Amino acid sequence: MAYGKDAWKNVKKEQPIGVFDSGLGGVSVLRELVSLLPAEDFIYFGDAAHAPYGERTEREIRALTTAQVDRMAAEGVKAVVLACNTATSAACAPLRRRYRQMPIIGMEPALKPAILSREKPRVVVMATHATLRQKKFARLVARFKDAGEIVKLPCPEIVEFVERGEIHSRALHEYLEERFSSVLQTPVDCVVLGCTHFPFVREAIREVVGQDVQIFDGAAGTARELKRRLREADALQESGQKGAIEWLSSSSDPNYVERLKRLYAL
Ligand code: DGL
Repeated sequence: MAYGKDAWKNVKKEQPIGVFDSGLGGVSVLRELVSLLPAEDFIYFGDAAHAPYGERTEREIRALTTAQVDRMAAEGVKAVVLACNTATSAACAPLRRRYRQMPIIGMEPALKPAILSREKPRVVVMATHATLRQKKFARLVARFKDAGEIVKLPCPEIVEFVERGEIHSRALHEYLEERFSSVLQTPVDCVVLGCTHFPFVREAIREVVGQDVQIFDGAAGTARELKRRLREADALQESGQKGAIEWLSSSSDPNYVERLKRLYAL
């Protein structure tokens, strides 16, 4: 069942799909993956022992992500979803060169649908520092900068709020108010959640930015891309039965897997 770096031979439709994040955030993506591909089996891994990734160097993020993808590949996954914008920015391209035949699907801040949603919108992209400073993001901005105004808003602490399970707290609300205070001096049309932890605090963000602002995230697009790649490789599970999820993490907290499951069920 397991296969090496250079081959994706004899892939079996019943092999699971690996889903990776620095912690709890990728669960927001996993929900979309299961909703679009209910017959697939998934292995979710949250690298909580090393989170937050967004405050690490590119080199560290690449090394941590590569180690986990190598482990999942050795376990025989048929594809990997990097359900983390930060890991995607730092490691997706080198991982695609390392695993030429296995689909590696990354996340991208949903800037394109936000910018195209109306005439010259003002779009705020919330993400980690690591995502916003990467060349990958600069290239995305260069593509769309003439179609609207793009404002970068690093919000690394949200990752820690979510990891602590604080998705409605007063401290979170105050943090968001502070982060948005100068940005909201000029009307905002769209907010892009460029980190997979952020959809869990969507309601708190909505309270701060108001009802008229449209909020985008990249999970559904990633799920569609995974389906497209599996179909193209004739590797979609066809059992017709509901798939299973295996939950794994590097956390020292014995309850971490339970927390992953609870968040999934929210
Ligand atoms: N979920 C990760 C992302 O999408 C957050 C990373 C972190 O700082 O650990 O960027």
